[in-house]
Amino acid sequence: MERIVVITGGSSGIGKAIAERFAATGNIVYELSRSGKSTPHIHHITCDLTDSAQIKEAFAELARSVRRIDILINNAGMGVSGATECISEEEARQLMDVDFFAAWLCAKEALPLLRKSKAAKIINISSVAAVFAIPFQSFYSAAKAAINALSSALALELKPFGIQVTAFMPGDIKSGFTAARIKNDAGAELYGEAIDISVAIMERDESQGMTPQRIADAVYNLCSLTKLKPLYTCGLKYKFFLFLGKVLPCSLIQMILRMMYCPKKRPAAKTAPEE
Ligand SMILES: NC(=O)c1ccc[n+]([C@@H]2O[C@H](COP(=O)([O-])OP(=O)(O)OC[C@H]3O[C@@H](n4cnc5c(N)ncnc54)[C@H](OP(=O)(O)O)[C@@H]3O)[C@@H](O)[C@H]2O)c1
Repeated sequence: MERIVVITGGSSGIGKAIAERFAATGNIVYELSRSGKSTPHIHHITCDLTDSAQIKEAFAELARSVRRIDILINNAGMGVSGATECISEEEARQLMDVDFFAAWLCAKEALPLLRKSKAAKIINISSVAAVFAIPFQSFYSAAKAAINALSSALALELKPFGIQVTAFMPGDIKSGFTAARIKNDAGAELYGEAIDISVAIMERDESQGMTPQRIADAVYNLCSLTKLKPLYTCGLKYKFFLFLGKVLPCSLIQMILRMMYCPKKRPAAKTAPEE
């Protein structure tokens, strides 16, 4: 049976790949973003997710078009890098609005329609950074950790209604996310090259990351399961990292993260693998 899928941030990267994956298999797909365009198989609704009035209006439009929502995928996201003490309040709030509050607001607005589905699911796109907080990406890591907590609590609250909720944590993905990241490079007089080096490592890892299609396949397959676990990731490397995150002491994890993201020297540029 065709499913009615609503995805935020379907105009590029992971969200676009997920929207296309569901549309290609005959499902009805709506995507909410600022710059997306409708295609023959994907209905675009223009919505700036930092504006709660626009979110309300987008779901009011959905309520006029569909009788139920089977799957809500809160995917839209953005990054802000920089020294935590130098990030502006505006940057921090924008990130929390897109990466955290929008997921909550969309779930709130979608629930009346999700309750009309026989097997509704909410998939919140989180990040491995939710578990391993990355230096100079503190607000991003905090927002994704909050998404994991929101997802787990919501899953318990919505179980009696048969609505399942999970957080999906991708690792590094090659997408427009890297170029769209707001880079605040203030604080060099305090941190020296540490900010630039750490951000260059993130950017190198992302440029060599998995394709958005790989995440789309994983999310698509997840949506066919009858019972969802609270947290998922994709790829052996990240499953292993998350296992280490459970068994190693926090101080050792911190030491590994410092070695990974705070080396003294800049990372050597590597050629990205062919897709
Ligand atoms: N790339 C990675 O390495 C990586 C790793 C782990 C997790 N993730 C997560 O995966 C998700 C998708 O990221 P991506 O890699 O696909 O990045 P992307 O290519 O930059 O896509 C981000 C999407 O979010 C939408 N968006 C951003 N701000 C918005 C706003 N104010 N209102 C409405 N939509 C907004 C964008 O649409 P418009 O610009 O058209 O509005 C776009 O469709 C995010 O939650 C991200 O945190 C990414």
